[in-house]
Amino acid sequence: MKNIVVLVSGGGTNLQALIDAEKRGEITGGKITCVISSKADAYALERAKNNGINTRTLIRKDYPDVVSYSKAMLDILNEERADLVVYAGFMTILDECVCKAYPNRMMNVHPALIPSFCGKGFYGLHVHEAVLEKGVKVSGATVHFVTEVCDGGPIILQDTVRVENDDTPETLQRRIMENVEWKLLPKAVSLFCQDRITVKDGRAYIQE
Ligand code: GAR
Repeated sequence: MKNIVVLVSGGGTNLQALIDAEKRGEITGGKITCVISSKADAYALERAKNNGINTRTLIRKDYPDVVSYSKAMLDILNEERADLVVYAGFMTILDECVCKAYPNRMMNVHPALIPSFCGKGFYGLHVHEAVLEKGVKVSGATVHFVTEVCDGGPIILQDTVRVENDDTPETLQRRIMENVEWKLLPKAVSLFCQDRITVKDGRAYIQE
């Protein structure tokens, strides 16, 4: 059974999707063993506690720089014996020492179709604001492995939704979460836990 450690910063609806999928028996070969929050008041922590999952907080402001924060995170991940680390709305960029210690063992859900609308500054509602400003007709979400390039690691799964004329950033965010993120993230986690994802030359392949 693989230990899944989930990193959060906010509401935690993606964490909830993972918890619900695990309860339905849809995370084959893995178990959420710890939730780590970068914010003390993240509602995601309540979701974890309500489901009996061990929680920890690691506050960015408590550390002088990103490297010392990242080293503290690495210590916790090692202590928790993480097999897979999932960014589920985790909004703090970590130093590359973390992803290099967990190559192709950290995944992130991003609320757009990478390589569009991603990278530094593209997070949360800002992504959907940029999508609407550009006027693209489809958007979606991407689950990818985390590398030292922000939102640049191998793409595991993607799916789309239509952008409607009367969408606001909030309505688009909700449609993408409900129709794509909450389905793709548990699916990608389950595939990982079954050792069905391989990475070659920067591309991820799923064994059917
Ligand atoms: C989600 O839409 C997630 O894709 C996004 O933040 C939201 C978190 O919601 N993540 C990013 O923008 C990372 N670049 P949640 O806390 O309810 O899961």
